[in-house]
Amino acid sequence: MSRRPRSSNPRHRRAVTRPTEPRHLAVVLLSEILPADGQGRSLREVLASVRADLSPSDRGLVSDLCFGVCRHYRLLDHWLDTAMDKPLKASARAVRLALLCGLYELWFSTRPAHAVVNAYPDLCRSLNAPWAAGLSNALLRKAGRSNVDNVRAALPVPVACSLPDWLWQQWCADWGEEAATRMAQASVVPAPMTLRGNRQHGDAASLSARLHAAGIAHHPGRLAPFAFYLDDALPVAALPGFDDGVFSVQDEAAQLPAELIEAPAQGRLLDACAAPGGKTGQLAERFPDATLIALDNDAARLDRVRSNLDRLGAQATVLAGDAADPSGWWDGTPFDAILLDAPCSATGILRRQPDVKWHRRAADIPALAGLQARMLDALWPLIRPGGLLVYATCSTLMQENAAQVSAFLARQGDARDDTAQVDGDVAVEAGQQLLPADGAHDGFYLARLRKA
Ligand SMILES: C[S@@+](CC[C@H](N)C(=O)[O-])C[C@H]1O[C@@H](n2cnc3c(N)ncnc32)[C@H](O)[C@@H]1O
Repeated sequence: MSRRPRSSNPRHRRAVTRPTEPRHLAVVLLSEILPADGQGRSLREVLASVRADLSPSDRGLVSDLCFGVCRHYRLLDHWLDTAMDKPLKASARAVRLALLCGLYELWFSTRPAHAVVNAYPDLCRSLNAPWAAGLSNALLRKAGRSNVDNVRAALPVPVACSLPDWLWQQWCADWGEEAATRMAQASVVPAPMTLRGNRQHGDAASLSARLHAAGIAHHPGRLAPFAFYLDDALPVAALPGFDDGVFSVQDEAAQLPAELIEAPAQGRLLDACAAPGGKTGQLAERFPDATLIALDNDAARLDRVRSNLDRLGAQATVLAGDAADPSGWWDGTPFDAILLDAPCSATGILRRQPDVKWHRRAADIPALAGLQARMLDALWPLIRPGGLLVYATCSTLMQENAAQVSAFLARQGDARDDTAQVDGDVAVEAGQQLLPADGAHDGFYLARLRKA
């Protein structure tokens, strides 16, 4: 029987009918996210495509398996290779992914070990691989006898913390091995759920009281004035006043760039890379009387900016355009302040988007840095004298951050670094670098650049 060749475009692989049993579905989704050729689809996009068809409990299990395997991929894959006498054939990709799911469940979930071990032989049969039923039973029993902390302690950091070598080496080069190790360890721990309270609905103390009244245990952020860390993640529908814009979900570090913006109350502000609108909403909360323009070159993502603003009851002019080429959208009136939350490697948010570790390549970084530099240079002339540009990324790479801003300052004689340092960051030559911190904020970079 001849088979149709498999499409090289990962988007085309979606056409297959999907199973409904959650572990089986997780394996199918993981084969789209982590295909053997490495050209996978985004975890969030793939999960979003099945969300509506699943019950809340199945959705929880599928999402946990997909996030968990992406988060610990290298560790699980390494253990599997060392535990098997004979390597799995490349054609048994689905079996490999199923075994990784089983390993993840045994080592990192709270589900009872016997239930996990018993689930996988049946899954192998459903995957048309009955030959792997005994193998899965033997391997998962073996894994159940190993302590994951001991397994990890015996491995080099990039394997134990599931990082690609290029990123580990770059972190060591940029921050030293000790800091790189802390970052690697923080990057495999799921991120806390952090809220931004809307100051239009009260001060931080009264917003905190609303959370307490709803029985939501939390503590305030250390860096951002309206950040609240929840003790336990919740569906947003359970947040008091969520539909009325009282709270938004946003990491604490991601709340800092908009806090650095200074402008007259009725000034002109540009959010130059706005979608999906987290920071646009925050700017609208801080400057409700300003003229706020939200720009992004991805028209589809701009719908999310509009719906975020609607939920907050806030106003902005939403524009599709290229931040690196203002001739297509700028009306010639200068801005008091610009927020440039630039596209970047996303290496500061690996705990929220663990698939980035396997999709991003070292070779992507110079191209991203080039785009960021073009945006900085193109937007700078749009600022009035004395105005400012806040440059931000969720990157942990020097090239996209402090080195980028230093080079910009060297090119633009009328720009100076006006970033205040906060506790706990690492010293960099320009701006402020936050590294991902366990139980706290993501990795983030920000620089406030003042025009003479
Ligand atoms: C880091 S995200 C922005 C996140 C957003 N500021 C928030 O807080 O929700 C970067 C955004 O830059 C946009 N982008 C990429 N290239 C662009 C360009 N040349 N011009 C304008 N926007 C661009 C992407 O579509 C993406 O939405």
